[in-house]
Amino acid sequence: NIKQIDAYQIYDSRGYPTLEVEVTLENGIKGYGLVPSGASTGQFEALELRDHDKNKFRGKSVFKAISHVKAEIASVLVGDSVFDQRGIDQKMITLDGTENKSRLGANAILGVSMAVANAGANAKGVPLYEYLGDGKGNLIPLNEIQILGGGAHADWANDIQDFLVIAIGAKSYEESLEITHNVYHAAGEVMKARGKRLGIADEGGWWPDYRTNEEPFEVFLEAIQMAGYVPGEDVAISLDIAASDLYDGTHYSLPLDKKIYTPDEFYDLMKSWCEKYPIISIEDPFADTDIANWKRFKTEMGTKVQIIGDDLFTTNITRIEYGIEHDLANSVLIKLNQIGTVTETIEAVRLTQRAGWLPVISARSGETEDAFIAHLAVATNSGQLKVGSFARSERMVKWNEVIRIQRHLGESANFIGSDIYHTILE
Ligand code: PGA
Ligand code: ZN
Repeated sequence: NIKQIDAYQIYDSRGYPTLEVEVTLENGIKGYGLVPSGASTGQFEALELRDHDKNKFRGKSVFKAISHVKAEIASVLVGDSVFDQRGIDQKMITLDGTENKSRLGANAILGVSMAVANAGANAKGVPLYEYLGDGKGNLIPLNEIQILGGGAHADWANDIQDFLVIAIGAKSYEESLEITHNVYHAAGEVMKARGKRLGIADEGGWWPDYRTNEEPFEVFLEAIQMAGYVPGEDVAISLDIAASDLYDGTHYSLPLDKKIYTPDEFYDLMKSWCEKYPIISIEDPFADTDIANWKRFKTEMGTKVQIIGDDLFTTNITRIEYGIEHDLANSVLIKLNQIGTVTETIEAVRLTQRAGWLPVISARSGETEDAFIAHLAVATNSGQLKVGSFARSERMVKWNEVIRIQRHLGESANFIGSDIYHTILE
């Protein structure tokens, strides 16, 4: 049973404060929860509680959330069985009492939820993926890996947030990493040669210096070919438009191109990119309030590309249910801290899978050295993992952890690569 719950401030990959929770059981076994943080957050996300005191960590400290863990949350959970993840998560939801976890803070609640899961796995003496998946998880995910950063992750160096690759030709997890490695470094060389590489962005992708939004596509295709691969066969492009950041309620804008679009015109642009380039997946092509475009896009493009809702759904059961009912997408980005408990996150995955849609387990732009989501991806047989780029240890720790999980699974490990898309694409 849980004996003690402690919390303290640590720092994420951007050097911003976040919290770590330590759960100690009566037998001395411990578990930890490290909370990530987004930058291009969706308006429907659960609330990340920060102190907003200008004199402390420029407003970014999380001491209120920490005190909620140590006082209110600890007081209701001490003595509970660490194996009752669902009961513990439900208790915290009830204690908070708000729709978006704004009273105690979703960061406080998630830290405890993850630490409890970790302690439970440690108490059973099994890896987290086995514990969370009741021993049923064995699908090694196909990676979605960022090559260029942009948008809110690179101070708006270009308007599109993520240019990513998916190694659709890979026959093994190792091969998918090899392909990604080769394309990532080739892209860096192409950008350097063109004088377009300024450094690396928040998630480890190259920090670009482009004049138009089409330029990165050219660099991408050149890099894939330079690395010796065939675009659309070995390697496909994936985009996260993060379009809520580009929409003011009536128009979309792409400042780099000095262009303003009506929703209809922006629809045509998204469709034309998907037709012109070897794009297999597109995330948030429209704003989270532009429901009409989502619906139309799903109808016209839903068997040609994976259409992922991130800001649209914010890993929220009610919003995903609405999306399924109105047929708005065919995939859901899954982020623990958008919803705030491990139980609700797994429910969101199951709901997505039951609808015949694909979950993509995702990190945040502000990450930690924890590999929880690598375990979550395998535990739930989600089949896809998105963790930013192929650089920086807060990213690599997740890719590397999948290597370890695969070794641990041995013969029962299952990599199906791009076959995962067969259920949604023609
Ligand atoms: P965020 O970005 O963590 O800054 O929200 C990730 C994404 O949009 O997928
Ligand atoms: Zn996104």
